[in-house]
Amino acid sequence: MKSHSSSDWGLLAPHGTGVDFREVCESTNLLANAAGTNGLVRPTWFVAAEQKAGRGRRGRNWSSPVGNLYCSYIFRPLVKISELAKLPFLVSLAVRDTFVGLGCSPNNVLCKWPNDVLISEKKASGILIESNATPGLAADYVVVGIGLNLAHFPSDSLFPATSVALETGDTPKATSAFKILSHAIDNRIQSWIAKGSVDTINEWRVNAWGMGMRRLIRTNDESFHATLIGLHEDGGLSLRLDNGIEKQLYAGDVFSLTTSS
Ligand code: BTN
Repeated sequence: MKSHSSSDWGLLAPHGTGVDFREVCESTNLLANAAGTNGLVRPTWFVAAEQKAGRGRRGRNWSSPVGNLYCSYIFRPLVKISELAKLPFLVSLAVRDTFVGLGCSPNNVLCKWPNDVLISEKKASGILIESNATPGLAADYVVVGIGLNLAHFPSDSLFPATSVALETGDTPKATSAFKILSHAIDNRIQSWIAKGSVDTINEWRVNAWGMGMRRLIRTNDESFHATLIGLHEDGGLSLRLDNGIEKQLYAGDVFSLTTSS
């Protein structure tokens, strides 16, 4: 199915969910944030075949040629900020569901803190979550931006990258990936609302990359080595520093030791 309109894409998403498809845009996160500011209430996906100014985490850009999936989901979560901190893990698991649904071997698809999903230890997706939350209060809306490397991957990324095409030998259609992803997100959000985030945290732990291993950690201020111990229930990454002290990391990136610091 070659889909060129929002109504075609709308048939792929869960019932009750809006879809706004563009052949090209600057950034689907930008579109979703603008819709949130303008009062959009219906949970809606913004999807693009191509982005001209794709946004990544920590101010990086996200290369967005035709052939991959670029989408952002906006919804109004009725949960506290402390619960929202678990959303990256829920979304990572939904991306993992998608890669497995597209033919990747489950053992090979792992979640890297905070919200990367790796295939064969290489980055195959990006997740950028933005909200207009007021500290201590519930967020008015949340935008979950997701890029899946279906056909292409950047050769110059900070962390080695790959695509579903390279890993499986088949290039999935963006429509197929979107159908699996949008339903996985919907199912996982329903269960989060009904049961809380304990199951999400536990499932992420089972599928985590690098636990028990010494890794390079980079924050805005410093780079250091530490052993990854696990995921704290509040979403922090538990680390053991080389001097034996344990701490939680709440912002930063994890790399293999071979990465140049
Ligand atoms: C990362 O740096 O790993 C996060 C990348 C997030 C990219 C996606 S693509 C769809 C959505 N629109 C954007 O501009 N960014 C996100």
